[in-house]
Amino acid sequence: MKKLPYDFAFGSATASVQVEGAWNEDGKLPSIWDDFCKRKGKIDNGDTVEVSVDHYHRYQEDVDLMAYIGIDHYRFSISWPRVMDESLRPNEKGIAFYTRLLEALLEKGIKPAITLYHWDLPSFLQKQGGWTNPLCAYAFEAYCKLCFSRFSRYCDMWFTMNEPLCISYVSYLWGTHAPGYHSMEKTMKAVHNINLAHGLAVRAFRDAGCKGQIGPCINASYSKPATQDPRDIEAARRDNCYKTDIFTLPVFQGHYPEEILREQKVLRNAPKGDMNIISLPVDMAGLNYYHTDYVKYADNGLGAEGVILDFPMTDMPWTITVDDFPFCIKSFSEQANGIPIYITENGCAYDDVLENDGEVHDIRRIDYLRSHINAALSTLDMGVDLKGYFVWSLLDNFEWSYGYSKRFGLIYVDYMTKRRCLKDSAFFYKEFIENAKQV
Ligand code: FCB
Repeated sequence: MKKLPYDFAFGSATASVQVEGAWNEDGKLPSIWDDFCKRKGKIDNGDTVEVSVDHYHRYQEDVDLMAYIGIDHYRFSISWPRVMDESLRPNEKGIAFYTRLLEALLEKGIKPAITLYHWDLPSFLQKQGGWTNPLCAYAFEAYCKLCFSRFSRYCDMWFTMNEPLCISYVSYLWGTHAPGYHSMEKTMKAVHNINLAHGLAVRAFRDAGCKGQIGPCINASYSKPATQDPRDIEAARRDNCYKTDIFTLPVFQGHYPEEILREQKVLRNAPKGDMNIISLPVDMAGLNYYHTDYVKYADNGLGAEGVILDFPMTDMPWTITVDDFPFCIKSFSEQANGIPIYITENGCAYDDVLENDGEVHDIRRIDYLRSHINAALSTLDMGVDLKGYFVWSLLDNFEWSYGYSKRFGLIYVDYMTKRRCLKDSAFFYKEFIENAKQV
């Protein structure tokens, strides 16, 4: 294995909704995901996040398992409705949970990486329009200030919004995530307010004098054309413009794509001063990558639709397009002006089986992880300032609209007993990290 920068991070990631449970304990208020789970037909099998994998009570065991695997960074999100009440005042009991978690991590020498927003908007803000309302971005600023004042002494790595594409399109246009709308106008409002919220978080971080780094966490797609037909090539360009550039250009370069401004009145009419906030310099950027979309021309307004080509599949079902991963990282690094890049999520779901001997032989996940980590590391030779890699996910958990039917973890969870069991991929990752650190 090639020599890696001495501070290269090997981590793993989770998100509050997906692992914590304790949905109404210690003063936690409802989030839009608590509400969405109650709506009929929204989540496979009628699953809920009420108990999830009970990380809220079992965090110490989970930290011990991370330490055993040798993970040196843990990326997790803070649940906004757990730490703040409706008057935007702190909820001390919720804060105490994250303080315990942070102390437990540091005790084991694991560096925390906090995601400020991984989709659990407090329900009281959704009642005021959620991300379609700029007030939501300013409430987020207040929440970020609280987080920085309470947690920055433990953590120096912060991510603002996780996957703005999902917070806007998947939630306000395609409707498969909370709050489940189907409106382009709402989506464009959400896009702008999410971008603004990111910038407000960066400003609050600097104003608070926090040490360390802050940046966004984007699932930049860099879609490719399904064929070399000029219409498909144009479709891929349009797809990238609407799904990636709409987030990367404002944050890294200070403007929306021209053609989107021509087509979307909401963005054209956004307050002019907002862009100065949105484009405040960041220290690093997170890229979440699962697969590359291949698209062809479609007469559907956007001018593009995804096609499934003949790639191997994971269980999501998502294609495995590992050869495209370096291109995606390189493109992201270029758009981000060469700042340090972390792969903040990468992983795969398979229908893992717990054998009688208590083992999980997830060979396909090992193949997926090995090939993707090596593909990511290959970009170091391409001039990318790649600083780390996080496996999604530490534990099997609640996979949004799929409920508990998709297992992404390095650690298998028996959903009845909540018992944890290291999968073969966890042992693979342990060995990979050990070897990488020795070189
Ligand atoms: C990403 C999400 C993460 C997880 C993975 C599989 O889009 O950020 O929470 O669900 O997909």
